[in-house]
Amino acid sequence: MAIERTLAIIKPDAVAKNHTGKILAQIEDNHLRIIASKMIHLTTEKAEKFYSEHLGQPFYSPLVEYMTSGPIIVKIFEGNNATTILRSIMGATSPSEAKDGTIRKLYGNHKLVNGTYENAIHGSDSIESAEREINFFFASTEINKRTR
Ligand code: RTP
Ligand code: MG
Repeated sequence: MAIERTLAIIKPDAVAKNHTGKILAQIEDNHLRIIASKMIHLTTEKAEKFYSEHLGQPFYSPLVEYMTSGPIIVKIFEGNNATTILRSIMGATSPSEAKDGTIRKLYGNHKLVNGTYENAIHGSDSIESAEREINFFFASTEINKRTR
């Protein structure tokens, strides 16, 4: 197994509901370690750029509105198979279809809100996406070595 880095975002709905700690505990309990962390409020421009792969989808504009509706917490996690592990504990995009015990099932909104899923968390969907997303949010000086 390879040590990887992946990007997680605690989305505005989960921050607003004070679910951050429980979500992070679930990730850390799966042996992923935080190596960078910040809280930011995305601008429309930055949210549009982050989700530009979805430009043209009916949910694109609601998604940008959702992601700019409040502050988010962005973290880099490191660990064995970090990308796959995070995606698996997050669960499916639609919280109502996510498996029991996953973060999205537990903390996401099971109803569509304004045409988008308020699903509590983002995780990079591949190693390539992770690298791009890490560079999108963090300077190399903000990323730490876990010396212990
Ligand atoms: P994410 O990028 O946020 O980790 O989510 P994901 O890979 O599971 O899903 P993706 O297809 O990349 O969609 C990005 C976000 O857009 C909203 N969405 N709404 N109404 C819809 O059919 C729909 N599809 C996607 C969700 O907030 C999703 O996480
Ligand atoms: Mg995605």
